[in-house]
Amino acid sequence: MRYSRPMVNNFKSILLTGAGSGLGAALARRYAAPGVRLALIGRDDSRLAAVEADCVARGATVERASIDVTDRAALAAWIAAADDALAFDLVIANAGISGGTSGLGESNDPSRLIFAINLDGVLNTIEPILPRMRRRGSGTVALMSSLASFRGLPGTPAYGASKAAVRVLGESLRGDYLPSGVAVSVICPGFVVTPMTARNTFHMPFLMGAERAAEIMVRGLARGKARIAFPWPMYALARLIAALPAPLVDRFVARLPRKAPPG
Ligand SMILES: NC(=O)c1ccc[n+]([C@@H]2O[C@H](COP(=O)([O-])OP(=O)(O)OC[C@H]3O[C@@H](n4cnc5c(N)ncnc54)[C@H](OP(=O)(O)O)[C@@H]3O)[C@@H](O)[C@H]2O)c1
Repeated sequence: MRYSRPMVNNFKSILLTGAGSGLGAALARRYAAPGVRLALIGRDDSRLAAVEADCVARGATVERASIDVTDRAALAAWIAAADDALAFDLVIANAGISGGTSGLGESNDPSRLIFAINLDGVLNTIEPILPRMRRRGSGTVALMSSLASFRGLPGTPAYGASKAAVRVLGESLRGDYLPSGVAVSVICPGFVVTPMTARNTFHMPFLMGAERAAEIMVRGLARGKARIAFPWPMYALARLIAALPAPLVDRFVARLPRKAPPG
């Protein structure tokens, strides 16, 4: 019932980062259709090529590029050139990495890499496109956050903080850009079956398939939802944990299983 309302938007020109696997690939395949132009960005060209082939088979036209989202200049140049040709009406800053971090200060701690990809990478993706959309007076930008953004958890300080920053960034930009006709949405998934979660050795409550997650995201973006958070039981739990007093929550979260470091 919740997802049966008609869509109000029909995106035709879409840029996706992290499109070679997981949620990015599922979104690319879900959007692929005749008349749709997709621009797919990732680092691993063979995985991107496989997603491109699926999308072309569904009737879409595809541009793909192997660019690291931390390479600000290269990404800005590619997005500007692609937008000149394709005039994106949807940009999804999805690329990200996850993993446990033991804390700050150790020489091999991957915290800065997590921030560089998950936060700087998002900024590098949206900075070149937002002024263009503002000039056009239309467009949608979606930022991939997480339900992990609502409360810091032991074992993932960098990942949780990067996703909290992305969520608040998107919520703030939404207000700035709404008057110009540009929508900014923030996506907060719970556990979804992707290569990222394949590395988790613990039980993941309400784990859902990537196709189902893509469907929820597509429908939320079509309606211009400010926050697309799912599945709802995990979202409710995340909100509850964020609202409860810290001493109560600290004892509970200290017992949660830990993620492996980024692969
Ligand atoms: N799966 C979940 O349960 C879940 C839950 C909440 C939020 N998320 C978020 O959803 C997003 C997608 O994750 P996923 O679950 O689909 O995992 P995934 O399959 O590992 O996808 C991550 C994608 O990001 C790309 N990427 C990583 N670093 C990059 C870089 N420096 N430059 C360009 N591309 C880069 C990877 O491609 P290359 O290796 O080719 O670069 C990969 O295609 C992430 O932001 C993640 O934090 C996932």
